[in-house]
Amino acid sequence: MTEHPRLSARIAAIAESATLKVDAKAKALQAEGRPVISYAAGEPDFATPEYIVEAALAATHDPKNYRYTPAAGLPELREAIAAKTLRDSGLEVSPGQVVVTNGGKQAVYQAFQTLLDPGDEVLVPTPYWTTYPEAIKLAGGRQVDVFAGSDQGYLVTVAQLEAARTDRTKVLLFVSPSNPTGAVYSPEQTREIGEWALEHGIWVVADEIYQNLTYAEEPDGVPPRAVSIVEAVPELANQTILVNGVAKTYAMTGWRLGWMVGPADIIKGAANLQSHLSSNVSNISQRAAIAALNGPQDAVEEMRRAFDRRRRTIVAELSKIDGMTVPVPQGAFYVYPDVTGLLGREWGGVTPTTSLELADLILDQAEVAAVPGEAFGPSGYLRLSYALGDAPLLEGVQRLQRLFA
Ligand SMILES: Cc1ncc(COP(=O)(O)O)c(C=O)c1O
Repeated sequence: MTEHPRLSARIAAIAESATLKVDAKAKALQAEGRPVISYAAGEPDFATPEYIVEAALAATHDPKNYRYTPAAGLPELREAIAAKTLRDSGLEVSPGQVVVTNGGKQAVYQAFQTLLDPGDEVLVPTPYWTTYPEAIKLAGGRQVDVFAGSDQGYLVTVAQLEAARTDRTKVLLFVSPSNPTGAVYSPEQTREIGEWALEHGIWVVADEIYQNLTYAEEPDGVPPRAVSIVEAVPELANQTILVNGVAKTYAMTGWRLGWMVGPADIIKGAANLQSHLSSNVSNISQRAAIAALNGPQDAVEEMRRAFDRRRRTIVAELSKIDGMTVPVPQGAFYVYPDVTGLLGREWGGVTPTTSLELADLILDQAEVAAVPGEAFGPSGYLRLSYALGDAPLLEGVQRLQRLFA
């Protein structure tokens, strides 16, 4: 009898999401009664705004939502997404160029499944969000890291991209604002990168899930726009997939609603895949998303202001720790300090040499959870989400200040 491995090689090669793993460990410790403060989760602490919840409640009482609906999404939602894409990404698309997905995660997965053949290379600005490598691998693609450290504000340059380009390069991943660094490309940098991609016929997967969360230099200033790469270079639209969703902007992580927007043939291919994979997203979540996108946006602005306040606090407090370098994030809700200055030194009887060991140390000794840089690329960094309440946010960084005093 032939011995077959229990797991397929494809599945054996993927790892559990590191960010979810650290958050689960923190939550398990909290359940044991330990006062752990967790900066691990990438989700707002706010409740979903009431007008959105009301729309979902009404939807649960309407029998038309009890049935299968089109796999690519409700026509009204695809229309609302097309309007949002024009509003925020400056791109005019038809509802037929939209697929509604189970969160932005499924949009990322389907984007790579739709574009990549085995051996196709994807340029991945590094540090990167932990899901991209697995989604690329599952599509048979080859990830090519392009690293930008804290010294360049975690922003890659055209020269770096060009140095990494080969005949097999098919896709550039472009994420602004970035998870995990919070870095935002300026309109000029975005245009330069877009023009380079256009010149070389390289597809772009642009993850815009944090596009509504950007922050001004001054506390009450007008936040900068994270200009979409298709707004900066309109000719790129025919070779770009936009990924987005309601999770981060509307505090709707649990509702599982995202989307992809792109050229009609690509979107048709992705919708075919989804028709076999998961079919339509829950109609209740889709109705809630229609309310979110078409309703008043005051609640979004209120949450953005709260994130901005917390961002200022965490950057100011972490900067007081000798050995941490803290670039000021301009978007999303993460800060990504360079912690190489803390490594190789003894803290409470332990000498961490990697950020993975440092993350273990702060969890053990300060009861603070943060995700180590290894989850996003090279060692030497920590990712802290500041989407948590003002009081625990401050308490946690004060614990770190005491540990590293
Ligand atoms: C950069 C980025 N893209 C996409 C997602 C997917 O979000 P969701 O699947 O919750 O919509 C996340 C979530 O953490 C993210 O950080």
